[in-house]
Amino acid sequence: MFSRTDLQYLDSALQTLEEGFRSLPPFEPVFDGERLRTVLHETALRLRDNFPYPHPLYAGQMLKPPHPAARLAYMLALYLNPNNHALDGGRASSIMENEAVAALAQLFGYRTHLGHLCASGTIANLEALWVARHARPQGTVLASAQAHYTHARMCEVLGIKFESVAVDKAARMDLNALEARLRRGGVATVVATLGTTATGAADRLQDMLKLRERYGFRIHVDAAYGGYFILADNLTAETRAAFDAMQYADSIVVDPHKHGLQPYGCGCVLLRDPAEGRFYKHDSPYTYFTSDELHLGEISLECSRPGATAVALWATQRLLPMEHGGEFARGLAAGREAALALQQHLKTHADYIAGPAPELDIVVWLLAAGSRSAASRRAHAAFANAAQHNLHLALLRVPDELAQYWAPELTTDSRTVTALRSCLMKPEHRDWLPRITALLDTAAHAALGA
Ligand SMILES: Cc1ncc(COP(=O)(O)O)c(C=O)c1O
Repeated sequence: MFSRTDLQYLDSALQTLEEGFRSLPPFEPVFDGERLRTVLHETALRLRDNFPYPHPLYAGQMLKPPHPAARLAYMLALYLNPNNHALDGGRASSIMENEAVAALAQLFGYRTHLGHLCASGTIANLEALWVARHARPQGTVLASAQAHYTHARMCEVLGIKFESVAVDKAARMDLNALEARLRRGGVATVVATLGTTATGAADRLQDMLKLRERYGFRIHVDAAYGGYFILADNLTAETRAAFDAMQYADSIVVDPHKHGLQPYGCGCVLLRDPAEGRFYKHDSPYTYFTSDELHLGEISLECSRPGATAVALWATQRLLPMEHGGEFARGLAAGREAALALQQHLKTHADYIAGPAPELDIVVWLLAAGSRSAASRRAHAAFANAAQHNLHLALLRVPDELAQYWAPELTTDSRTVTALRSCLMKPEHRDWLPRITALLDTAAHAALGA
C-alpha cells in the first residue's frame, strides 16, 4: 500500500538542495540514529491503528492520499522548514505560493485576484467571511441548510448574523426560499456551496448571480471540496454552468488538501478584488525587513504558515498541470464515473434505496426497510459488516426535509434516517468498483436481518 521506492527521488533532490548552500562551512546536526530508529519503529506501530485511507477499499469519508510529488516535495522543504509569513522566513516558498495560488485563481477564471494558502477550508472560509464583513459591514450571511457547519460557527466567531436557507430535494439551496429571504432585505452575503460535504450537491450559482443583480449582495463560493471539479469533463450541463459561474463570485475557497492531492494543512482563499487587501492592513515591528515587496503575512489572518505546504502544491501543479483533459482532470472524472456506476448499481438492486443523482463523486443511499428506524439500523449494520470485509464506508444522518423526498416509502417513525455514504475520490475507485459493489452487496444482505 505504501511506495517505499520513491524515497530515492527525495535523496537525489536533497543533494541538489544542499549544493545550493555549499558556500557555508560544513555543519551536520547531531542525533542518536539508533534511538531515532527505535522511536520511529514505535511510531509506525502506533500508526497501524488507522483505517487504510490510501487503499481503494477505503471509500468512506472525504479523504484522498497526497500525490507522491506533494509528499516528497513537502519532506524536501522540511529540511529548511520555511515560514511563509514573510519573505524573511520563506523567500523561495513564498514566491512558489504566489505562483500556485495564481494558478488556482486562473483555474476558476479570475482575471484579478488576491489570495494565499491557509490551514484549512474552515480557516479559509473564516477569512472570506471576515473580508465580506469588512466589505459589507451591515447585514446577514446566508448559506444553505446543507452548507458546511463552519459558516454558522465562523459567523458566530465574527459576530455576524447568520441564517440558513432551505434546500430542494437535490440538497441544493432552494432558490425560491432564497429570493423570499432576499425580499425581506438586510442580506449582506450569500454563501454558495459548490460541492456540499454530505452529498456533493452544487448550489445553482448561475441563478444566484441573477438574484445578485436584482438584490445586490456579496457572493462567497465555498468550493472547499468541489472546486477542482471545474476541470472534470463529465459534469451535467447544470452542474457545469454552476462551476463556470465561479469567475463572477467575490471570493472562493478551495481545499487543495481535499481534491488537490495535498497533505493536510492546505486550504486556499481567493478574493476577486485585490483592493480588498486593504482590510488586512496592520503593523508588524518584527518581520518585514528583507524586501519591500508584499509579504504574505500582510494579506493573511494567520501569522506563521508552513512554506512546505506551498512547495508541495507548487510541485504537484508542475507535475500535473490543471488542464482540461490532462492527467489531473482525468483523475477527477474517473471518481465521478465511479460514483455514477455505483448509483446505477444501487438503483437496480432491491436491497437499496438510491439517494439523489451524484453531481460530483459522493454517493448516498439507504437500506431498504419498512420504516426510517429500521433503515437506520440496517445502515449501521451494513457499515460494520462492510468494514469487517475491509470495505470502509461512511454514514450520514439524513434530515427529515431530505428523507421525505429520498425515501417517501419509509414510515416516518423518526425525524432523521441514517444512510450510507461513499466519497469515491480516488481515480482507482473506478476500476475497483466491481469489487466494492460485491463487498457492499454481501454486507448489505447480511444487514437485512438487523
Ligand atoms: C464544503 C466544505 N466547506 C468547508 C469544509 C471545512 O474544511 P476543513 O475540513 O479543511 O476545515 C469542508 C470539509 O469537509 C467542506 O466539505
